[in-house]
Amino acid sequence: MECSLTARDRVGLQDFVLLDAYTSETAFLDNLRKRFHENLIYTYIGTLLVSVNPYKELGIYTKKQMDVYMGVNFFELPPHIFALADNVYRTMISETNNHFILISGESGAGKTEASKKILQFYAVSCPSTRLLDNVRDRLLLSNPVLEAFGNAKTLKNDNSSRFGKYMDIQFDHRGAAVGGHILSYLLEKSRVVHQNHGERNFHVFYQLVEGGEDDLLRWLGLQRSCQNYRCLVKGDCAKVTSINDKNDWKTVRKALSIIEFSESDIEHLFAIIASVLHLGNVQFDANIRGYASLSNSNELHWLSKLLGIQTHVLQEGLTHRKIEAKAEEVLSPFTTEHAIYARDALAKAIYGRTFNWLVNKINESLANKDSSRKTVIGLLDIYGFEVFHVNSFEQFCINYCNEKLQQLFIQLTLKSEQEEYEMEGIEWEPVPYFNNKIICDLVEEKHRGIISVLDEECLRPGEATDLTFLEKLEETLNGHPHFVTHKLADQKTRKTLERGDFRLLHYAGEVTYSVKGFLDKNNDLLYRNIKDVMRQSQNNIIKLCFPKTEPDTKRRPETVATQFKSSLAGLTDILMSKEPWYVRCVKPNSGKQPGRFDDVMVRHQVKYLGLMEHLRVRRAGFAYRRRYEVFLQRYKPLCPDTWPNWKGTAAEGVQRLVKHLGYKPDEYKMGRTKIFIRHPRTLFATEDAFDVCKHQLGTANKTPARLLTFFLILEIKLSFSTRIETCWRGLMARKEKEKRAWAVKVIKKFIKGFMTRNQPACMDNSEYLAFVRQNYLTRLKDNLPKSILQRNAWLTAPPIMQEVQRSVTKHLGTSQMPLSSWFIVLTRNLCSLQLKATASSLFRGRKENYPFSVARPFADTRISKKDHPLSYSVPVIKYDRNGFRPRFRQLIFTQVAAYLVEEGKVKQRMEFSSLRGVSVSNLSDNFLILHIACDDVKQKGDLVLQCDYLFEALTRLSVVTNNKNLVKIVQGSVRFDIQPGREGFVDFKSGSESMVYRAKNGHLMVVSREMREIN
Ligand SMILES: Nc1ncnc2c1ncn2[C@@H]1O[C@H](COP(=O)(O)OP(=O)(O)O)[C@@H](O)[C@H]1O
Ligand SMILES: [Mg+2]
Repeated sequence: MECSLTARDRVGLQDFVLLDAYTSETAFLDNLRKRFHENLIYTYIGTLLVSVNPYKELGIYTKKQMDVYMGVNFFELPPHIFALADNVYRTMISETNNHFILISGESGAGKTEASKKILQFYAVSCPSTRLLDNVRDRLLLSNPVLEAFGNAKTLKNDNSSRFGKYMDIQFDHRGAAVGGHILSYLLEKSRVVHQNHGERNFHVFYQLVEGGEDDLLRWLGLQRSCQNYRCLVKGDCAKVTSINDKNDWKTVRKALSIIEFSESDIEHLFAIIASVLHLGNVQFDANIRGYASLSNSNELHWLSKLLGIQTHVLQEGLTHRKIEAKAEEVLSPFTTEHAIYARDALAKAIYGRTFNWLVNKINESLANKDSSRKTVIGLLDIYGFEVFHVNSFEQFCINYCNEKLQQLFIQLTLKSEQEEYEMEGIEWEPVPYFNNKIICDLVEEKHRGIISVLDEECLRPGEATDLTFLEKLEETLNGHPHFVTHKLADQKTRKTLERGDFRLLHYAGEVTYSVKGFLDKNNDLLYRNIKDVMRQSQNNIIKLCFPKTEPDTKRRPETVATQFKSSLAGLTDILMSKEPWYVRCVKPNSGKQPGRFDDVMVRHQVKYLGLMEHLRVRRAGFAYRRRYEVFLQRYKPLCPDTWPNWKGTAAEGVQRLVKHLGYKPDEYKMGRTKIFIRHPRTLFATEDAFDVCKHQLGTANKTPARLLTFFLILEIKLSFSTRIETCWRGLMARKEKEKRAWAVKVIKKFIKGFMTRNQPACMDNSEYLAFVRQNYLTRLKDNLPKSILQRNAWLTAPPIMQEVQRSVTKHLGTSQMPLSSWFIVLTRNLCSLQLKATASSLFRGRKENYPFSVARPFADTRISKKDHPLSYSVPVIKYDRNGFRPRFRQLIFTQVAAYLVEEGKVKQRMEFSSLRGVSVSNLSDNFLILHIACDDVKQKGDLVLQCDYLFEALTRLSVVTNNKNLVKIVQGSVRFDIQPGREGFVDFKSGSESMVYRAKNGHLMVVSREMREIN
């Protein structure tokens, strides 16, 4: 795959930054088209990812692909959504800050798919435990549930998101995904009661009717045909070949259980979906007085059952409203027209509020209970820019939202870029860009903006209508360059506008909106008495959605548009506090066809997505910048003049450093407070060199000659470092993969072993039986009989050991072996078990690699028998107190002292009486530090040792010194005496690779591989 990726990679340019004619839209388009036709749908502009919807499965999202992209530098592999996801993740880990990925593009361009791929990548690539796997499953499964309730088929997209979604994925300090939180934005509720031709209601309705089990449908009073439900067939396309409602139902049903919805919640949820279907079928007749009366009592019966509200209460609520007359409240009957309006308003309210309940419930299930600090990656997948034949209030809100996101994009990339250059005194080649602030203001400005005018009209007493709203708009916005109506237009434009239309010139193009329904949709009024009716419901979810404490409608609630405006302002604040990354999705044709690249359509998107401007900024500008102090502090070891300390200013230090590193003049610029680096590759190469250097510095002996050699070598390495890093990251990813494959093998073997446990020992069960034996012996250790004569007090052995047990107990009674020999054998074993028990009390649950030592028997000595005059001896590595050079030694215990010996020569003797203690870390390294009390400064200090038999040696030591409190298990760092009065430190941490080196701060850094205990 890697090879084929490299071959594919040669098509066109994978980063537009390298485009010669970078100002030419045609060249841009040519490159995009060329790659698209080779199924290369991703191309970069620096770190921004452009993605063209292929409308076909490309097989590029496999687990294998994820492995390829895991941990590899962004620019070293062909562009991919996984590369972006991986880069964001690694930046978050190394900089411990928050990020977000803004995925934008018009409806059907591939935003939701992109966000799902990112989530899947994190689910596979992040470290996890069994506990975290739960979070991971929930994060992944929240998607089909939210899509069922919030997505629908539209003319643009068979799975169009009809709500905005911002999802935070929370990571702990180890980079594991530990929780999530979802914010949802403005669900298009009107779809519940009306769909345009060729569109459908929300998926969940069709899924229930098509996929629900017979019993369930019977219980809900539903029939298995969408044609029976008016609100499912308004668009006349209940069945769509690309959608499998039956299968999707199964997925959703399973997901609901996994994200911890109780059976009762699920029942009540289904009851609500069904009640909306029944409500849609409720019809009204006019009685003789012209008032509405219900024409079908069957629907009312089911509504009453499913919502748990008495029939007559429901009936009254659906046909009357309460009005206040003087001090009294009286019921006023609806006309049929009014009743239909109230019914639809209720259906929308029930569905909309249930959707919010669902999001909250999912959030509860994703919530991370631990309060330690988290970093987050936010994913924003919000409805794309939308233009239909007839556009209404919903499109107005959606396109306003896109306008705001475009503004944010401009602010974050173009404008802030320019401003910073100016601040830093760096010459800026002006990049002209279209600032859409004028359109945002047109919509949202106080008093003058469209939303203000709309609200005013909604709240105004008297006969306000959609048309009076249009007139107000014309009065207020007459002459605005981005606003036109039939009345305000010139002759030519007028022909393209109806009388009830207004047209906005959005950044993405012109959209004509029909004002019909604007007032109602913005008011979103639900009569007060129908709310009272819903409050009587016995359905638990409806009870929560219509709380008794809801403020009464004496004061008008905020209108929909104003609420939306505030929530978008909130979203902007959330995003502004994080580091941005962008995926710009492009739709290649309007027919959802694979392989068709419609030049006109793509050109238009390239233009309005601001891709050309972004490219120009990238080419004019510099990819990275760092403050001088930060840059110098990090990279000063790369130059002999700046290492270890630079005496001059930070800026001078940086200048010296980059000169030494051979930066060419056009690769960087010096600003007032920062260095600007033009290409990412320059920074990567520097970073790679730094990685190499870090390790070298730990061991380099810093005589001038050696330093010079060291720097020479370093410079050679610098040029190779990029390549080395690629290989290294690839290797790490492959190792991780091997580890997982190993785990799968072990688990499979375990299961096979279990299944064949009662068969004679064979390949399949040998390891499992060894495990059973060990397990039995461990239990036996804690439950040994008090006397060898208590034959019945032995623990029952597993089947494979029963033979042995029988023979032992038989021998105990009738053996030819004298009892004294038995006693010796047993005592020796008991002694060994006793030692194991002591080890357990010292280390169990306190040191990471202890569980792996349990199965290894303790030996009396580790040095060969022939030179064994002492009570215990073991080989160790001793680290010099100055410089931490490793030396091979033997550690020997007698009854009174410990000796450190080199080839028969005693190098150090330590009386046990002067042994103050032994420190070991809680991690999986094998280091021990012997602390020795000594006042004589000329004496040697504490001992830093590494021992492969750490648990055995320390258990022996604690027994021979008869001191159970000798061993101290510490976290982080151990202070020790280099010699009396001079202190040194050993720092411990976990990492992906075991390493021991002298850190820059002079401490001995011990990095051990994190170990997971297999339970
Ligand atoms: N990367 C992709 N590979 C294959 N098909 C895709 C890809 N992205 C999008 N699609 C197709 O396009 C459809 C619309 O994509 P979607 O992400 O729902 O659009 P948006 O969220 O931008 O409206 C999907 O249902 C899928 O069929
Ligand atoms: Mg979508």
